Amino acid sequence: MKAIKISDNIYWVGAIDWDVRNFHGYLTQRGTTYNAYLIIDKKITLIDTVKPVFTDQLIERISSVIDPGKIDFLVSNHVEMDHSGAIPAIMKYNPGVEIITCPNGEKGLRTHYKKEWRFNVVNTGDSITIGDRSLQFVLTPMVHWPDNMLTYIPEQKILFSNDAFGQHYASSGRFDDECPLDVIMEEAKKYYANIVLPYSKQVQKALSEASKLDIEMIATSHGVGWKKNIEKILSKYEEWSSNKTIKKVVIIYDTMWKSTEKIAYAIHDAFESQDYQIVMNNLQHNHISDIMTELIDAEYICVGSPTLNKNIMPSIAGFLTYLNGLASGNKKAISFGSYGWGEQIKKIDEYFKNTGFEIIESVKHKYIPGSEDLLRIKNNIIEKIK
Ligand code: FEO
Repeated sequence: MKAIKISDNIYWVGAIDWDVRNFHGYLTQRGTTYNAYLIIDKKITLIDTVKPVFTDQLIERISSVIDPGKIDFLVSNHVEMDHSGAIPAIMKYNPGVEIITCPNGEKGLRTHYKKEWRFNVVNTGDSITIGDRSLQFVLTPMVHWPDNMLTYIPEQKILFSNDAFGQHYASSGRFDDECPLDVIMEEAKKYYANIVLPYSKQVQKALSEASKLDIEMIATSHGVGWKKNIEKILSKYEEWSSNKTIKKVVIIYDTMWKSTEKIAYAIHDAFESQDYQIVMNNLQHNHISDIMTELIDAEYICVGSPTLNKNIMPSIAGFLTYLNGLASGNKKAISFGSYGWGEQIKKIDEYFKNTGFEIIESVKHKYIPGSEDLLRIKNNIIEKIK
């Protein structure tokens, strides 16, 4: 395995994880990459590392350019272990490597690795000269950990953005001009929805900082970087972080004997009659991380579950827990479900309230809804949404 040159004296030395399908609960159908970058200058500098199991791949790629023992600086833009996991290996080659990171980065790395490494702590506006080029830093706390920062090389107009603007997407191409744009945009949206969404305010702040930079290349830490579509990905981040919605409903449900599913389709018909874009998600067939992607710009969310014993179905409770961790309160919400006795659909409304959603209606039906019941449900929903 070898390094891939991405600019003058700058190489991609990361790892491609073709097989990963679960990234702490996020379904990564297309795998991912852990991108690290090697800069050959007076001070040889490595920007980020890789997930621990890919350490050998990182070392092999670095070794195709220089002896890893010659690295002087290691910039840690983010402590999470998919990027810091190979720092201990790099430090074994040269214990004198200076780790450049922000204050929360230092705290995080000390807590994770419990080593007395040499730290050079930087803040927004700081700059370090490494020879013919310099590194400038912009702290972006909570996009999506307290320790995130961006590193910028003004001489080459490259922004090393770490998790921001990334995608879980395994590819031999390193930049957007080598891959299908619709696929990488979809993966960037999914990444935003499942990783970055709770921190939209911080994203707006980071975008305002990034807008001051003249950028010709964004080198992300996952998936491909951006050269041809920089404006497009920046404007998508602006859009996703704005909490704006479109005329769209996402209907999510599980069902035991199809009664809740019948209600789901009555609600579908109500929204269809009002010309909404509709996405149906039976949780038996759809993954919660894909549903989050659809939800970013939806005006309405409808969640349905039958009452199972004295609760809602575990699949729905799991989805609502995941949603509660990620979503903001920019949605109108409808709960629904069938029950035999001991109705528990109210538990869905409790999740809605905790997530800050505006509850529009709760549809409850005892046992099996007939055609007249379904028409009544449809007409009632139409009245609520028109
Ligand atoms: Fe890719 Fe937050 O780590």
